[in-house]
Amino acid sequence: MKMLILYAMNDEAKETIKEFSFEKVEEGEFLPYELFRSQVCGQTINLATLGQDKKFGVDSVGTVPAALTAFDLINKIRPDLIINPGTAGGFKSRGGKIGDIYLPTKVLFHHRDIPMGKFEAYGLGNYEVFNHQKLKKSLEFKTGVFSTSDSLTSNEKDQIFFEENEVVIKEMEAASICYVCEMAKIPYLGVKSVTDIVDGGRVTSEEFLENLETASKNLQVFLKKLINILLKN
Ligand code: ADE
Repeated sequence: MKMLILYAMNDEAKETIKEFSFEKVEEGEFLPYELFRSQVCGQTINLATLGQDKKFGVDSVGTVPAALTAFDLINKIRPDLIINPGTAGGFKSRGGKIGDIYLPTKVLFHHRDIPMGKFEAYGLGNYEVFNHQKLKKSLEFKTGVFSTSDSLTSNEKDQIFFEENEVVIKEMEAASICYVCEMAKIPYLGVKSVTDIVDGGRVTSEEFLENLETASKNLQVFLKKLINILLKN
């Protein structure tokens, strides 16, 4: 299986890079992504991070770099599967706790409000995801609706959306990568670890930074098991 693991942030990816001895092979020509390769169980695995924004010097998080990177790397690598691990906001009202690992049942956009006939459904996205049913036998994870926007914070309208759509994970790349995967007919397997609780009353950025290391370590423990299972099947 030709696998591409696509992370947004370097800090989220560093444990995986260390664990599987990934080596950097190239950078994007125009995009700032960094591409790494490793041999695991006799198979080549590709891992990319979105890289540092050339103008602002921060991780280029969000939907635009994620979609462009997914598109460029799909053309270059032609993967059979894209795994998109990362950190995210969870919801205590739906059982979410810091460090929990979630896989999606579906992926939505919560900032694309186009109340105009069929455009409404287009805005929502509602993309297809990898069928994780078989993974349930050997791995422990929670499941539910993921929702994406370009904001770390949320407003009142977003909060109504989260309730109505029973969102369990709020993050910043999944739907845009899913959109590209659906067009290219490549399964999308999102894996998100909770760093902050959206309905918990804390300042998101503070809670996120406090829990980034723990959540990334949990992600790595899960990912190691996941990759071994996928490569053996
Ligand atoms: N990444 C980590 N926490 C997040 C949140 N609350 N919203 C969006 N992206 C996140």
